[in-house]
Amino acid sequence: MKALILSGGSGTRLRPFSYSMPKQLIPIANKPVLEYVLENVRDLGVREVGVIVGDRAPDIADVIGDGARFGLRVTYLPQDRPLGLAHCVTLARSFLGDDDFVMYLGDNMLPDGVGEIAAEFRALRPAAQVVVRRVADPRAFGVVELDERGAVRRLVEKPRRPRSDLAMLGVYFFTAAIHEAVAAIEPSPRGELEITDAVQWLLGHGAEVRASEYAGYWKDTGQAEDVLACNRHMLAGLRPAVGGEVDAASWVEGQVVIEPGARVVRSRIEGPAIIGAGTVVEDSYVGPYTSIGDDCTLRRTHLADSIVLRGALISEVSGLLGSLIGRSAVVGPASPGEASHCMVVGDHTRVEIAALGARPPTLAATATSAAMAGI
Ligand code: G1P
Repeated sequence: MKALILSGGSGTRLRPFSYSMPKQLIPIANKPVLEYVLENVRDLGVREVGVIVGDRAPDIADVIGDGARFGLRVTYLPQDRPLGLAHCVTLARSFLGDDDFVMYLGDNMLPDGVGEIAAEFRALRPAAQVVVRRVADPRAFGVVELDERGAVRRLVEKPRRPRSDLAMLGVYFFTAAIHEAVAAIEPSPRGELEITDAVQWLLGHGAEVRASEYAGYWKDTGQAEDVLACNRHMLAGLRPAVGGEVDAASWVEGQVVIEPGARVVRSRIEGPAIIGAGTVVEDSYVGPYTSIGDDCTLRRTHLADSIVLRGALISEVSGLLGSLIGRSAVVGPASPGEASHCMVVGDHTRVEIAALGARPPTLAATATSAAMAGI
């Protein structure tokens, strides 16, 4: 079996991050989403991986390279414009040949793996096997309707009035039968060749289509809130490891990873949290569910339930909660005596400042209760 991983797409829902980096490289617990995807694919015994890339191809190649680091052989397949998931299958036609393959959206996190579903596909080899789960609002997904016996009756992409709550996750298993289907369908109202329509075409032409309900953790990391929620989930499973320096005036509690080369000075780190290599945390509090990337600086800052990307500098800010701070961003105080805020804020950035007179939250309690609520 081969794998086709989709890492094109413009990631508009993840602006402003997607302006400067592909959304598949957003770090969760300091590791890009795409790396989790590659590890999952490798765990299925796959070795040959085609990665569909758009205009951010060089960034993806910088991180993934030839795939050897993951025990994989990666072939990059460029896509000029995001014309849909089924279009990606047509681009990969010669790479895939007539082999069975797993198609995996590069922004989908399924940390519990898809081993059982892959085994079922390998044993039964239906033309298509989709992975589904019940969601509260299926309108943003491909939706699968089953009949009384649990067989797939219909698949509809983003229906306005869904007739089932079974959403398709970003993992699909196909035999070579899918190639005829993707060649036969027409673009959807959003102008894309939908993989959902291709699977529906197979069904309509008498092919076997199976749907497996997924019981593990799943997150489509398409939006900032999803990225933070997934970060909380992954940090909760962190194995503590202190490789960096923690001075005698600091206090580290819970599941905390401090990577080699990081320094914690006169600070309190309350896990689950991860502090990247080369990062300095001074006179600060890093609360639960926080990932701080490499080479960051935190001074006199209190934050929790947040993700800070490589090279950011945060100083003298208290009460940062539920925040995503981009690479080499600077967040800090105005000059002494300056009573106004000064911002250089990029397109589609969101800044929410505490209401006047509001007291800063107790970060530990707030982060923990947010996580317990499963947000
Ligand atoms: C795509 C698919 C949709 C699927 C979803 C899973 O949606 O078209 O059928 O349910 O991925 O993440 P998109 O991310 O393009 O909105």
